[in-house]
Amino acid sequence: MKSTYHLPVPEHVAIIMDGNGRWASAQGLPRTEGHREGAKAVRRAIEGCCRLGVKTLTLYAFSADNWKRPRAEVSALMLLFRHYLLTEVEECRKEGIRISVIGRRDRLPGTLLPLIDEAERETRGGTRLHLRLAVDYSARDAIFTAARRVSSAEELSKELGPDVDLLVRTAGEQRLSDFLLWECAYAEMVFLQQCWPDFDEDSLADAVAQYRGRVRNFGAVPVTAAVG
Ligand code: IPE
Ligand code: IPE
Ligand code: MG
Repeated sequence: MKSTYHLPVPEHVAIIMDGNGRWASAQGLPRTEGHREGAKAVRRAIEGCCRLGVKTLTLYAFSADNWKRPRAEVSALMLLFRHYLLTEVEECRKEGIRISVIGRRDRLPGTLLPLIDEAERETRGGTRLHLRLAVDYSARDAIFTAARRVSSAEELSKELGPDVDLLVRTAGEQRLSDFLLWECAYAEMVFLQQCWPDFDEDSLADAVAQYRGRVRNFGAVPVTAAVG
């Protein structure tokens, strides 16, 4: 049967995991419960990417602007990140998942730094999926910092990482919030209504199906319209 898809599975999927707070509020729970539930959705997103054959998954976990949140919420998020590193890294290593953490490190709690180093070291041989966790991340800051080390746009792209094929944001917002601004130059965007804690493999499959039905021109005319 002829496939109706134009595109292969995206190589690089990036997700803005939004709506934890709204998910919690809707059930009368504190926002931190939404973050805790959201951590479970991370595992589902990773499993889905492995199953579909996505090569790189970048997850926006904590933005440079998220430091503006109440101190208790920031602490809860850092504790969750610590818990994630303590409990998930071995499984990732076994599954062939390479972990990288992108973003600033100098403002993170010192106790996290050796855990991040260990996660990256222990999983560096993984070839099935490259999981990039964006923590204390700002695209503007990343671009500004990387730009000092390079002398062309191509070098800057290499320095920052692969272009995003599919950008997903949950919880209905339609903005980038300083995420992967350079790498999303030609990203296809899918905005989902559901909040991040409700995200599952079907949500990912649905976003990927939407992506595969799109036509990407990169500035050229579509192949089918190229004559005449
Ligand atoms: C995303 O959910 C998690 C982080 C930004 C850390 P939010 O906490 O932004 O949830 P909403 O947008 O307030 O519902
Ligand atoms: C973006 O979500 C950051 C993360 C998902 C980690 P926010 O909820 O912080 O973004 P804004 O403030 O609504 O743009
Ligand atoms: Mg939000």
